[in-house]
Amino acid sequence: MYDYDLLVVGSANADLVIGVERRPDAGETVLGSDLSVHPGGKGANQAVAAARLGARTALLARVGDDAYGRLLLDSQRAAGVDTVGVLVGGAPTGIALITVDPSGDNSIVVSPGANGRLRPEDVRAAGSLFHASRVVSTQLEIPLETVVELVRCLAPDSRFVLNPSPPRPLPGEILAACDPLIVNEHEAKVILGDSCVSDDPADWARLLLAKGPRSVVVTLGAEGALVAATDGVERVPSVKVDAVDTTGAGDAFTAALAWRLGLGEPLPVAAAYAARVGAAAVTRAGAQESYPTPEEVAAL
Ligand code: RIB
Repeated sequence: MYDYDLLVVGSANADLVIGVERRPDAGETVLGSDLSVHPGGKGANQAVAAARLGARTALLARVGDDAYGRLLLDSQRAAGVDTVGVLVGGAPTGIALITVDPSGDNSIVVSPGANGRLRPEDVRAAGSLFHASRVVSTQLEIPLETVVELVRCLAPDSRFVLNPSPPRPLPGEILAACDPLIVNEHEAKVILGDSCVSDDPADWARLLLAKGPRSVVVTLGAEGALVAATDGVERVPSVKVDAVDTTGAGDAFTAALAWRLGLGEPLPVAAAYAARVGAAAVTRAGAQESYPTPEEVAAL
């Protein structure tokens, strides 16, 4: 019935990555590694991760008419993503400046560029993609009004997955559509704001659920994840791996979760699979280049 298992609406960035021994303090200069350039962006990453796992995937995004835009389109097509929804022009391709430290942790500054020009009218014009997609997933590196329009364009029986990254307070209309809302610790605290009255992630999950989503996932890095729905909160274990680079691991987790939910798996089962995909993704450098095949997930 559906042409696509997953439609990802979101950002596409060129990731400019430098390895550092430690990040500079304000006013300080440090030397880092040679620069490497990778295709990235939370939306583009999700689309590649899902397609590499075997999901029929489409991407709705905007890139610049420039070399980085072509890098991103090439990466999507190589992974098998349908790029019919990728718009070109209007501003330079988004850029992410990323530092990665020896533990594999990253810090990211994004210049949205063309991502900021993905407008509500672009979403309306892509109505046929929404009706052809079982699950729709997005993040917050595109304008919030575009996400609001997306929620209004969802087909009645499709499922909506949101990773609110980078986080900001969300209107009730968006929260009510999420199934699930997927947050890490930092994102949970920003979304909860003043109502974050506990240090216990299980409490965050319950408090977030009370804000309207049909389900919630709180990712806890090496500690796995918590899944929460009306029937309670459940812990999902992680897989222990040696982290090389965590960049984009959350995007791989979200993409895998969205795809498996669309296949009909219960939330805890889909989250356990997604945790394996996320774990595999941290064992290699970069975002999209690090994403596993189903065979690699099975071998973990
Ligand atoms: O989640 C990782 C991504 O965040 C990077 O690829 C970067 O582009 C930023 O969007």
